[in-house]
Amino acid sequence: MDATTRDALVKLVENVHGDRCVDVVLSDMMANTSGNPIRDSVASLDLCMAAFEFAAVMLKTEPSSAFICKYFMSREADEFRKDTLECRFSNVRAVKTAASRSESREQYWVCRGFLG
Ligand SMILES: C[S@@+](CC[C@H](N)C(=O)[O-])C[C@H]1O[C@@H](n2cnc3c(N)ncnc32)[C@H](O)[C@@H]1O
Repeated sequence: MDATTRDALVKLVENVHGDRCVDVVLSDMMANTSGNPIRDSVASLDLCMAAFEFAAVMLKTEPSSAFICKYFMSREADEFRKDTLECRFSNVRAVKTAASRSESREQYWVCRGFLG
């Protein structure tokens, strides 16, 4: 099921019983790359936004709650971090895992302390 659709969000929320009951939301979603950097960045950010939408409904508003999300580095991703993630979490870091090739634009946001 396409996670960017309303139906998917509704089904996900239905499968986790009760609002604000989740400690961690981790999204490893990534669209197949097309070779077009702009298209790939947009597709990646759409998935991040879908994961965040779920996290925003489900995460506990506690210092220990966490949203971890794979993304492609881009100007739009920087804006999403600044305008959304940094406003909704007490701490946001970008992490590149050892498994990720150095030339890859793939990273993770590690966001702690959901503020609601
Ligand atoms: C890097 S793989 C993650 C693999 C996963 N960690 C695992 O162990 O199976 C990226 C995943 O994102 C999924 N994906 C890509 N676009 C998606 C979408 N629109 N909705 C839901 N999943 C999507 C793909 O199906 C793929 O399984």
